[in-house]
Amino acid sequence: MMDLNDLYREVIVDHNRSPRNFRQMADATCMAAGHNPLCGDQLTLFLKLRDDVIEDVSFQGSGCAISMASASLMTEILKGKSESEATRLFDKFHALVTDAGDETDPDLGKLAVLAGVRQYPSRIKCAVLSWHAMNAALHGETRASTE
Ligand code: FES
Repeated sequence: MMDLNDLYREVIVDHNRSPRNFRQMADATCMAAGHNPLCGDQLTLFLKLRDDVIEDVSFQGSGCAISMASASLMTEILKGKSESEATRLFDKFHALVTDAGDETDPDLGKLAVLAGVRQYPSRIKCAVLSWHAMNAALHGETRASTE
C-alpha cells in the first residue's frame, strides 16, 4: 500500500515534470515575481481577478522540483477562490509545511501531500515560494522574497 511518503514523491515528480498552468497570462490583472535568494530560483505568478474572485492563475519560471510542484498544485487549488479564501489557504499551507498544520483539513485538498516537506526543513522555502508571490500579487506588490 502506498504511504504518504510515496504519494509525496509521486505528486512532486508528476507536477515537476508536467506543471499545470505553466504559462504567461496576457490578460492578468496582477502579477508578482517570487525569488528565493538562497538558491536563485525565481518564478512569476499571474492572477486574473474579477470581483474579488481568482478567475485564472498561472506561473512561469524555473526552480527545484518542490517549488515547481508546489506552484503547480497551488494554481490548481486557487482557481475560483476569493481573495480572502486564498489568503486563508496560504496561512493553512504555511502551517502545514512548518509543522503546525493539519493535513486532514479538507480545505487543503491535494496540498496535503506537501506536508512531507516538514521532514526537510531546508525545503520549506521552496514550498512557499509561489505562495509568497501570490500573496504579493494580491496585495498589489510586484516582488516577493522568501528571505
Ligand atoms: Fe530553490 Fe528550492 S532550491 S526554490
